[in-house]
Amino acid sequence: MFVINTRLELRKKLAQFRSIGTIGCVPTMGALHNGHLSLVKRAASENTFVTVSIFVNPAQFNDSDDLKGYPRNLETDIKMLEKAGCHLVFVPSEKEIYPEPDNREFDFEGLDEVMEGRFRKGHFNGVAQVVSILFDLFEPHRAYFGQKDFQQYVIIKRLVEMLQLPIEIVPCPIVREKNGLAMSSRNELLSAAERENAAIIYKILKEVNNQKELKSVQELKKWVVDTINKNPLLNVEYFEIVNYDNLQSVNDWDEINKKVACIAVYCGKVRLIDNYVLN
Ligand code: PAJ
Repeated sequence: MFVINTRLELRKKLAQFRSIGTIGCVPTMGALHNGHLSLVKRAASENTFVTVSIFVNPAQFNDSDDLKGYPRNLETDIKMLEKAGCHLVFVPSEKEIYPEPDNREFDFEGLDEVMEGRFRKGHFNGVAQVVSILFDLFEPHRAYFGQKDFQQYVIIKRLVEMLQLPIEIVPCPIVREKNGLAMSSRNELLSAAERENAAIIYKILKEVNNQKELKSVQELKKWVVDTINKNPLLNVEYFEIVNYDNLQSVNDWDEINKKVACIAVYCGKVRLIDNYVLN
């Protein structure tokens, strides 16, 4: 596996790869876990070459403590990637990604204003900046994104449409811990008790799927927030039931569209997100 730090080296290596076969790309911020590795394995099954980027992108953090405290395990990450069948990992410095300030502002027509976008101002603009730079550098045939970050996946799909990039965006299912907690680099920051209590988030999301249509959308939303907030270690930031395609709030079960229940919960100081596609 090639470990590469500069744009120039990356472009040279990728030109060789491209002359031989297809390139799958998995953008990450490192502190890898089995959720990330499921994307790597999927990419390996669909492409000649699997490439990964590890870059903790300051532009998408709206809280400097969150950025400082973000877990970083580069040595372990590299070992895990090698084992998972990755061919190339790009680990750039901030200067390499942003040689000059990126002042681009993307217009996602409201997709970035709800849920995560409402509580993390500028987050998706920062994600779009780095992902568009990575797409420009890698020019992958396919790029892999987890449905764990459902809103991010929807926005990246819109980004490639807007920029007219010939890249297939492949959504990958959420990988969970045994107790149901969605895997996340941030789980490393939880205490054992917090990890255990955070598992109720998934239980409640499954319950939403079971109870839909027995309660009104509004009643069910209130029940979710009240039930989770009863746990002294958890505090809901938002819970929304949205249209799968445009992220607009659903008000009525009769609306004919695929629906997703999306949640953000503080567990102590750690912010966790999860979602469940209703069926
Ligand atoms: P990061 O949080 O490191 O996640 C990298 C990719 O792994 C994302 O597509 C994310 O959805 C996916 N992922 C994380 N946890 C997962 C899980 N439990 N199951 C399945 N997939 C999971 O998302 C980012 O980084 C950044 O915003 C990035 C796109 C790299 C831009 O900086």
